[in-house]
Amino acid sequence: MDNLILKATGDERNSYRIPAEAADLSKPFNAEVAGKGSEPLLIKDNIIRFQKKTPSGISMAQRSNLLPPTAKMYENVWRKRSIGILSGEYFSFEDEAALLCDWADPQPGETIVDLGCSTAFYARSLFRRQPDATQIAVDFSLPMLEEARSFAESEKANMYLLQADASALPLYGESVDAVVCGGSLNEFSKTEKVLWETKRILKPGGRAFFMYLLKAETLAGKLLQAGSAGGGISFWTEKESEKLFADNGFETEKSERKGVVCFQLFRRIE
Ligand SMILES: C[S@@+](CC[C@H](N)C(=O)[O-])C[C@H]1O[C@@H](n2cnc3c(N)ncnc32)[C@H](O)[C@@H]1O
Repeated sequence: MDNLILKATGDERNSYRIPAEAADLSKPFNAEVAGKGSEPLLIKDNIIRFQKKTPSGISMAQRSNLLPPTAKMYENVWRKRSIGILSGEYFSFEDEAALLCDWADPQPGETIVDLGCSTAFYARSLFRRQPDATQIAVDFSLPMLEEARSFAESEKANMYLLQADASALPLYGESVDAVVCGGSLNEFSKTEKVLWETKRILKPGGRAFFMYLLKAETLAGKLLQAGSAGGGISFWTEKESEKLFADNGFETEKSERKGVVCFQLFRRIE
């Protein structure tokens, strides 16, 4: 795996070179990386602590993911069953991993970002499919990244774990081949800013895989979503999401719906 180059906040000329050892999750890695003209960046237990403070203006839903008990239960209690429960159709965790890997199609030497990764289910799945690609799993929740590290370590999956805000990524423009994002789009409070960042970091023609929830059409679904909306979760109709992605520079390549759950593969428009 290559070293990871991060840009410091505020000035593109200031960068941090993160050693590849940080992505080897079989060994604890701790360091302070000096930045050119910026304060040192702490890497503790392999997690790159770029965003140390909780970002301001976050929703109740986002805040709940900063809590260790949420992170502990997230994958085994909720995520493994979530698509089946939300769509009302049989669709296993393994089915979702296969769909992600077939569509995102990771290639040797590529760099792929898992945005709002929680336990890094997507980055771990992509690593299994293509160990010669570099995975960068990004979340602003430290407890989630700690869980990601523990799952990835037990599966011998290597990746960079980056604590950062998806709406202000410390990655250089046109530096990644693909971005994948499972379920987090509904939760990002600054959706358009995150899509702008996604487009910015993608190479021209780069791929973006999103799984997100559409507005429900049944009464029960509408009631459930009305409750989540109060906590800061957004939902779109198919038409609204089409416009959201097109307006932010993405062209749909593939699309599949399972009830309200939508899987889409996009290309960055040049
Ligand atoms: C619904 S979970 C999705 C998890 C994961 N992608 C998956 O497929 O299981 C949303 C995650 O996005 C993270 N998140 C929310 N807003 C964020 C932001 N602005 N920057 C980085 N991470 C964010 C939360 O901490 C949480 O772990």
